[in-house]
Amino acid sequence: MLLHVPGVLSPSQVAQIRQAIDGAEWIDGRATVGEQGARVKHNRQLAEGGALSLSWGEVILKALEAHALFMSAALPLRYVPPLFNRYEGGEQYGLHVDGAIRGVPGSGLKLRTDLSCTLFLSAPDDYDGGELEVVDTFGTHEVKLPAGDLILYPSSSLHRVLPVTRGARVSSFFWVQSLVRDDAQRALLFEFDQRVQRLRAQLGDSEDVVALTGQYHNLVRMWADT
Ligand code: NI
Repeated sequence: MLLHVPGVLSPSQVAQIRQAIDGAEWIDGRATVGEQGARVKHNRQLAEGGALSLSWGEVILKALEAHALFMSAALPLRYVPPLFNRYEGGEQYGLHVDGAIRGVPGSGLKLRTDLSCTLFLSAPDDYDGGELEVVDTFGTHEVKLPAGDLILYPSSSLHRVLPVTRGARVSSFFWVQSLVRDDAQRALLFEFDQRVQRLRAQLGDSEDVVALTGQYHNLVRMWADT
C-alpha cells in the first residue's frame, strides 16, 4: 500500500528544520547504503547519528506518533532514526530496493524494514524533477508532495528518485518495523480501522460499532508481533 499522509509537519516546523539544516555539512549519501545502492545513489545527506539528524528526527517521530492516519496505516513497532537528504544539480537515486535489515546506530538494535517513508521538506515549486517513483503491482507511481507531507510505501518496492534539474529537493527518510509484517494484512487492518472510525462518527458507539472495534483488535492480536 502506497499512502499519502498529509500534514505531518506544520509549515513553521518545516521552516525551522530547513533553517537548521540548510547550512549544515552534507556528506556523500553513499555512507548509508549497500553495494547495489551505492552504484546508483547520487545525493547528499546529514551524517547518520549526528546531533542535527537526531534532534530533528525526534521532532518528526513525535509528530508521527500524534498523527492518527499514519499510526493506523503503519502500526509502528520501532523506527530507524530519520535521516535527511538533499538532491540538486542533476543528482538522483537510480532504481533500487531498500535493505531488509537496518541497525540503529549506537544501540546494537536491528530492525526489519517493513515500510519506507519520505517526508518532503521542499515545496514542489522550489525544484524541477526529483519525483519519487515507486513500482508496485498496480504500476509505477510518481510522488511529489507538499512540504510537511509524507509518503508511506512497502520497503519491498522498487523505487528511485528522478534527477533534480532545478533548485534543491530536501527531505527526511526513514524506515518503520511494523507490528504487522505482512503488507496485505496491514492494508486490511487500515481499511477496517478507517471504516469503523467513519461508522463511529455517524452512529456513535452503537452495539455494532463496539463489536466491530472488538473484531479489529482481535485481528491485530492475531497478526501483531511485538
Ligand atoms: Ni530507497
